[in-house]
Amino acid sequence: LDVVVLAGGISHERDVSIRSGRRVADELTNLGHRVTLLDPQAGLLTELAERRPDVIWPVLHGATGEDGALLSLLETTGIPHVGPRGTAAGLAWSKPTAKELVRRAGYSTPAWIALSRETFRDLGAASVLEHLVTALGTPLVVKPAQGGSAQGVTIVETAAGLPRAMVDAYTYADTALVETKIEGTELAVTVIDTGDGPQALPAVEIVPVSGVFSFEARYNAGETLFFTPARIAPDIAATVAETAVAIHRLLGLAQLSRIDLMVDADGVAWFLEANVLPGLTETSLAPQSIEASGETLGAVYAALARAASV
Ligand code: DAL
Ligand code: MG
Repeated sequence: LDVVVLAGGISHERDVSIRSGRRVADELTNLGHRVTLLDPQAGLLTELAERRPDVIWPVLHGATGEDGALLSLLETTGIPHVGPRGTAAGLAWSKPTAKELVRRAGYSTPAWIALSRETFRDLGAASVLEHLVTALGTPLVVKPAQGGSAQGVTIVETAAGLPRAMVDAYTYADTALVETKIEGTELAVTVIDTGDGPQALPAVEIVPVSGVFSFEARYNAGETLFFTPARIAPDIAATVAETAVAIHRLLGLAQLSRIDLMVDADGVAWFLEANVLPGLTETSLAPQSIEASGETLGAVYAALARAASV
C-alpha cells in the first residue's frame, strides 16, 4: 500500500499525535508498505491530489483531526482515509453530543450538565455551583466538552473545587462538561473493523498510581498499571465488549475507535466517551489491546489501512 500518515497538526495534543503517527508509519514501513509522514499545513490537499496515495491515515488527535473538519476536507480529494467520516467524527468528538446519542440508544452514561463559558459567567459561580451540586451530587468530573488526553480534566470532591475546575476546562473548550463521578473499574475498549464489521479487542483496565488517569499518567511509563485483559468477570467482559461495539456502530466510527467506560460494583457499564482517532503511542491503550489479542501492531495497522482503502 501507498499510505500517507498525517501527524502533528495544530492542537493541544500535537506532541502525542507526532508520537502516534511515527509509530504507525514505522510499523507499516517495516511490513514493506510505502509510507510518507506529513504534518498537515497549507498546500496539503494539493500535495495529496498530486501524490494520490491508496489511503490517508490521519493520526491527528485533538481538534485538528478528531473534530472532523480536516477529515471532511480529505473527503473532497476522493482519496480514502482511515477513520470516520468528518461529519460522524464531529458528533463523537463533542462529549455531550456523544453522551446524548448513547443515552437515547439506551446505554448508561453518567448524569451530566454542559455549561458554556457565557452561561457560567452570566449566572455567576455561586449559583452555578449550587445548581451543579444539587443536580449531580459529588464527587464530580469536570472536563472540556471537546478534548483529549485528560487535558483540562479535574475530579472535584467538594463544591469548593468547582470554580477552578470550570476555569481549567474552559482553557481547552468553550463548553465545560460536568458529570457525576462513577466509582468502579476504568476500562478502555478498542474497537477495530478490518472489513468484517466492528469487533472489540480485550479491554484494558486502567489503574493510575496517583489514582487519576491524568496527562502525566498517560504518557510516562510506569505511572499507570494496565491490566489487559481487564480483571473482570467473563459475563461483564462480554457486556462491555457488546456495549463498545454498539456505540462504535452508533457513532459511525469506521475502522478504529476506543470507547472508554466505567464498570460499577453492580456490573453496569457507563459510557464516558468515544475516541475518534485514539492514541497509538508507546504507552497508549489501543496498542496494548491489539497485542493482547495475539496480533502484531503492524498486521493490524496494515489491515485497517487496507480496509479503509477499498
Ligand atoms: N486523545 C488521546 C490521544 C487518546 O485518545 O488516546
Ligand atoms: Mg479521550
